[in-house]
Amino acid sequence: MATPELASGVGLLRLEWEADRSAWVFDTEPQERFVHWDWSQCSRWDARYTDVLGDGERTTGERTFDWIAPADDVLADLDARAAGSDARLLDVGCGNSLFCEVAAAAGFTRLVGVDYSRPVVDAMTARALERGLQERVSYCCSDVARMPYADASFDVIVDKGCCDAALTAWDHCAMQRRLKRPVSAELEERAERAAALAASFVLEYARVLRGGGTLLLYSYEEPQGRACWFAEQRCWQVRQQPARDGNYLYECTRV
Ligand SMILES: C[S@@+](CC[C@H](N)C(=O)[O-])C[C@H]1O[C@@H](n2cnc3c(N)ncnc32)[C@H](O)[C@@H]1O
Repeated sequence: MATPELASGVGLLRLEWEADRSAWVFDTEPQERFVHWDWSQCSRWDARYTDVLGDGERTTGERTFDWIAPADDVLADLDARAAGSDARLLDVGCGNSLFCEVAAAAGFTRLVGVDYSRPVVDAMTARALERGLQERVSYCCSDVARMPYADASFDVIVDKGCCDAALTAWDHCAMQRRLKRPVSAELEERAERAAALAASFVLEYARVLRGGGTLLLYSYEEPQGRACWFAEQRCWQVRQQPARDGNYLYECTRV
């Protein structure tokens, strides 16, 4: 299987999961079939994780994968922000990222990964058990727009590619406009739904994060495509960090 990649900023023109060939296709030519590229749907992620994590003949052996930034970089970012080992950490849209595992190995003891895709939550739960990490790490199958946690339950939230997944139709629409290409009514409608979905994520993050807590949002998208989600809700102070490997870190404090 080709390595899945989320590429950077405006260079991201097409990335498509081809379930039939169990391969990721990436190129920089805008094409009409890109219109099908929408990773906000749980069924898409279920299909991907069933393919890569399952025991069937299409299994690729991809047990873990980190999008946008390696788990070690996130850990370094936490250390740099002096998050103590007893900080309550929430990894939203955790997928099969190694972040919770790496953070547990580094001494963090209160880690929760949330993802709406049942196959990946089951696989990561089994993996944590196998490694004896169940006291420190748990995984929960939930939509991040409606999480089963009380207000102010977490000190730090990590979103590495979850908002990006929700916003693929929005980004696609913006890209078509930048390229002065036509935008179909169907794409426009999906883009609006994506915008509403991302707004509901950010609202939910504000609810479950304690005052003064930090959201580390990792994204392939430049500030013009992401900062607006926080500007609309007046409870965030956003500091954009310098781009790393073409990707961006938005450090957002819950005020
Ligand atoms: C690009 S992957 C990133 C995975 C992981 N955070 C990483 O860094 O490798 C996006 C993940 O977000 C999850 N996701 C997307 N929308 C979601 C939602 N509404 N609720 C929960 N999980 C969601 C997908 O299932 C997928 O695992």
